[in-house]
Amino acid sequence: MQNYFIWIIIAYFIGNFATSYLTSKMMGKIDIREHGSGNAGATNVLRVLGVKAALITFIGDALKGAIVVLMVRPLGHAQLTLACGLAVIIGHNFPLLLKFKGGKGIATSIGVFLVVDPLAAAISVGLGMILIVKSKYVSLGSITGMASLPFVLLILRRPLEIVIFGLLVGLLAVYQHRTNINRLLKGTENKIGSKRKK
Ligand code: G3P
Repeated sequence: MQNYFIWIIIAYFIGNFATSYLTSKMMGKIDIREHGSGNAGATNVLRVLGVKAALITFIGDALKGAIVVLMVRPLGHAQLTLACGLAVIIGHNFPLLLKFKGGKGIATSIGVFLVVDPLAAAISVGLGMILIVKSKYVSLGSITGMASLPFVLLILRRPLEIVIFGLLVGLLAVYQHRTNINRLLKGTENKIGSKRKK
């Protein structure tokens, strides 16, 4: 039991590794959380520092999610693997090392789900991508893609624990996008290419 708890703590601190913070410090000499939307994530890095830094951020944040699941899964404890998957996303969103001001967890959630359930991840990410391309709102695609996860998992008849995990990941993503949802409702959300609004 104690060992399980240690894995969850390790996963949380791997999540604290904020790629956006490092890329923005190294490539732009700024703290990304003080620019653009203020979010420590690939979309805001794209907005402020461009495609290359954004790609590095997305890959780094997704990799840490995938690495945690790949690291814990061989222990053969399905619930622990899912708990660590959630812990790495929470570590990204609320990093102790960055005074709890992290990102919205989309890239990390994608990394986790690509390992946990590649087909479900591909369907939800595909849905999100279609919405981003059609609407030019990354947030709308992120929210819809993540919120679709539990439904996709249900349709694919996955075990209940994975559906519940998808539901928690989806709810967390929606919660993290609450300011985006407000802006979407008011019609003031940032579109791809715009440089505005916290
Ligand atoms: O994954 C974050 C994205 O959905 C929204 O980012 O910077 O526009 O709040 P941002």
